[in-house]
Amino acid sequence: MKKYCIIGHPIAHSLSPSIYNRYFQAMNIEASYEARDLDPASFDEEVLGIIRGYDGFNITIPFKDKILQYLDLDRGAAEIGAVNCVFDGKGYNTDWIGFIRSLQGIELIPPVMVIGAGGAARAIVYGLYRMGIHDLHLMNRTQSKAEELSQSYSKRFGMKIYVHPFSALERMIKRAGTLINATSVGLKGEHFNVTPETFSDVRVLFDVIYTKTPLQRLAVRQGIKVVMNGRSMLYHQAVENLRIWGILKEDHFHRIFEEVTS
Ligand code: ATR
Repeated sequence: MKKYCIIGHPIAHSLSPSIYNRYFQAMNIEASYEARDLDPASFDEEVLGIIRGYDGFNITIPFKDKILQYLDLDRGAAEIGAVNCVFDGKGYNTDWIGFIRSLQGIELIPPVMVIGAGGAARAIVYGLYRMGIHDLHLMNRTQSKAEELSQSYSKRFGMKIYVHPFSALERMIKRAGTLINATSVGLKGEHFNVTPETFSDVRVLFDVIYTKTPLQRLAVRQGIKVVMNGRSMLYHQAVENLRIWGILKEDHFHRIFEEVTS
């Protein structure tokens, strides 16, 4: 019996156990996938046992960077500075891969503007870099985190990331060709404090939230032609996890993912 899990804190909201357990069942794979809520205070005591005890696992907030020191890293995880998938003592980042695969065939119209500077934003900005987009605009509620992201990526990859104060949100969205929301705003139905007309010249919207949010609805009402949510990013990162763990049959997984998430 193989054992997989996701570790995080909190973890109750995670869709991963339903998705992977349904997949294992459908594929007759003898395996289980559990959600483990780890107390951040005991992370260092527990992490080695988890690395040894599971055939593969995922990591979410707030442990994606805490685990770096315990693993060998693949290029993406090392360059982003965050791990969300582990196999055989090695840490991977599949978020950025999920992001770029979800954009296949979609042209990102410049200027590109990203909101957010947390784990999702780091993976997305890195994905943009790997897609050849080296210039972009960044805003975050806590501006210092955006400055930090900008400085580390310009030093490491030569990206030009222009940081703007959050108070300029409306003005900056008006100038964006492509707008990417990489924050958690919308997860509970919240919306940015901007007028609907703000979006009238945006051509492409990518919202990392995988459910329908007020931002996505507004974008559709404002006539933005390409409006994407995080569902396909979630799908493609899960496909990549299964590939790394050596248990991927993509057509089956696609069907299960549709069933569980729609
Ligand atoms: P994730 O890994 O999903 O990116 P995270 O690292 O906790 O999660 O980052 C959450 C992001 O959402 C951050 O950019 C956060 O802004 P702060 O850095 O200022 O905390 C952003 N965020 C969360 N709630 C927000 C809100 N109400 N308004 C604006 N930004 C918000």
